[in-house]
Amino acid sequence: MKDFFGPFTAFIEERFDLTPLRRWARHKKVPQHKHSFWYYFGGLALFIISLQFVTGILMAFYYSPTPDTAHESVRYIMEKVHYGWLIRSMHFWGANFLVAVVLVHMFSTYFMKAYRKPRELMWLIGVLLAGLVLAFAFTGYLLPWTTLSYFATKVGVNMPMVMPGIGGFLSRLLAGGEDVGAATLTRMFTLHVVLLPILTLVLVTAHVFLSQVFGSSVPLSQKGYSEETRFFPTFVLRDSAVWAGMLAILIAFVTIFPANLSSKVNPVMPAPAGIKPEWYFLFLFQTLRTFPEIPAIAAVTIGLIIWMLVPFLDKRSAKGERSTFFTLFGVAILVYMIAMTMMAYITTEVH
Ligand code: HEM
Repeated sequence: MKDFFGPFTAFIEERFDLTPLRRWARHKKVPQHKHSFWYYFGGLALFIISLQFVTGILMAFYYSPTPDTAHESVRYIMEKVHYGWLIRSMHFWGANFLVAVVLVHMFSTYFMKAYRKPRELMWLIGVLLAGLVLAFAFTGYLLPWTTLSYFATKVGVNMPMVMPGIGGFLSRLLAGGEDVGAATLTRMFTLHVVLLPILTLVLVTAHVFLSQVFGSSVPLSQKGYSEETRFFPTFVLRDSAVWAGMLAILIAFVTIFPANLSSKVNPVMPAPAGIKPEWYFLFLFQTLRTFPEIPAIAAVTIGLIIWMLVPFLDKRSAKGERSTFFTLFGVAILVYMIAMTMMAYITTEVH
């Protein structure tokens, strides 16, 4: 078969020594065992986040972040720009898929105890990335300037209010004033397209770099497994197949359910009844509705800190021993999140 890349590779090789890269590609192996399936989710998150960057940049050519123009510019993208509806719908559904994939990736690495020494930093960076992904979702939500996005953001930026002392300051910082308005829109836009992407690029690079340094971990239950797959080309090809499958599912999804654009907000009108956040914030929303606010926020904050510090608290798995307590802790968190989400669905009307 003709080597199409031959002249290109020769050009590079005459100028750079590719031996270390070739050696790395030849030697890198991926463990193959009963739970190897979960190794695909990190790569999948990487793929979807890259798609979000591409579709987001394409939309930024047309989007205009002011209360007078935001909604119209999104309508223009949906109705006038060639394939604008496809790009916006991919961005909208991509965000939902990304949150879901990141959650699966986080819980699967948790239950496989992949956070244990030496991958503690990968876990810590991972938790920050999960926070960034949610921050992307929150800041992006306001941008179409619809009734729903306006009032949901109002609920969100008012949430810190219940914190004693700094609550009011935090709310004003998020909103850029006393209420959600033009300043909030500029603020959310800047966070969404400048600050969060920069932070994400830095952290994703560090996370993926560390995943290459350490390689994939082997769950304690699979100790003594014997098989390994070559990273290149076998695992890379499998990863590519998973990514292609994801792209096919995403495109099928957006063609059947294109993102809709509800009516433009009229901020002087009262909030419509039954405003509730997107599915991934429901467990938090329901927590605040079910329990008194200050203890609820304190409990969530403490839970989050413990979650971040798990690699350092779980001394047993660091020594290669089973740590049933932390498995049960993970199950408890997962069950709580699912139960609260379901409760929120049952007790509020669905939009
Ligand atoms: C944008 C978000 C993220 C991206 C793009 C990403 C990407 C990746 C990639 C490519 C890998 C290597 C393949 C794999 O083992 O799956 C990986 C591994 C890992 N990630 Fe993430 N990740 C993200 C978020 C997270 C989160 C939220 C956590 C946990 C809090 C996390 C924790 C880990 C850990 C512990 C590993 C090592 C897995 C092992 O060696 O078995 N990551 N990640």
